[in-house]
Amino acid sequence: MKTLINTIPKLQALKAQGEKIACMTAYDASFASVLAQVGMDMILVGDSLGMVTQGYPNTLSVSVEDMIYHTQAVRRGAPTQVVISDLPFMSYSDEQAAKTNATRLMQAGANMVKLEGGGTDIDATVSSLTRWGIPVCAHLGLTPQSVHTLGGYKVQGKTAHEAEQILTDANALEEAGAALLVLECVPAALAKTVSDTLSIPVIGIGAGVDCDGQVLVIYDALGIGEYIPSFAHNFLAETNAVDKALSAYIRAVKDKTFPT
Ligand code: KIV
Repeated sequence: MKTLINTIPKLQALKAQGEKIACMTAYDASFASVLAQVGMDMILVGDSLGMVTQGYPNTLSVSVEDMIYHTQAVRRGAPTQVVISDLPFMSYSDEQAAKTNATRLMQAGANMVKLEGGGTDIDATVSSLTRWGIPVCAHLGLTPQSVHTLGGYKVQGKTAHEAEQILTDANALEEAGAALLVLECVPAALAKTVSDTLSIPVIGIGAGVDCDGQVLVIYDALGIGEYIPSFAHNFLAETNAVDKALSAYIRAVKDKTFPT
C-alpha cells in the first residue's frame, strides 16, 4: 500500500489544532478517486451502500461480502486516503465474529472499521479489536442498524436522560480504545458537549457544526436520490462539476459554514 496522506495520529492532531476533519462516503473506485484528488481527509465505505447503491429501504441487508467488494473498489480508487469500512448488521454480534469480519475488511483495504452502538458488549469488542491492531470508529446517536428498535430515522438524545446515556457511552467507547466517534442526528448542543469532552475526533452527521469534523453520504452531497436528509446540502447545484462540489464541501467543513 502507498503511504497514507493521513493517519490516525494525524487525525488526532487535526482535532488538537482545531482543524475540522472532512469525511465523505464512497462505494466505488471512480468516486473514491475524485475524493482523493480533492484531498478528502477520510473516506467512509458506509453500509448506507445498501440504500444508495442497492436500493434497499435500510442497511440491514448488507453483507460482509458486499462490504469487502466495495472496500476493495474504494481502496483501488484512493490508494492514499484513510478508508473506514462499516461492519454490517450482525457481523460483530460476538467478539469472535467481530475479529473475523474486521480482519476481512482490513485485508480488503480498510484502515479502520466502524461499528454501531454502545454498552458493555460493544465496549469489550472495541477493546479486543484495538488490542489486536484494528482501529475502531464507534457510532452513536441514530444508529441505522437499529432502525426498527428506534422506530425510524429520528433525532436521538433529545431528553436529558438520552443525552446523558450518549455521553456515558461515548466516554466508555473512548476508554475502550475507539479511535474516532461518528455522532449521527443528535442535537447540536449535545454533539458539542461530546466533542469537547472526548479527546478522540468526533465526526458529526446531522449533529451541528461544533463536532471535530463532518461526514456526508456522497449521493446526498450531490443531490441524488429520492430521500435526502434535511441536514444535507446539494453542493453540485452551485458548482456544476463533481470535483468542484466535493472541494466546496471540504471548504465548507473546514471554514465551518457546513452544516448550517
Ligand atoms: O453508512 C453510512 O454511510 C454511515 C454514515 C451515515 C455515517 O454510517
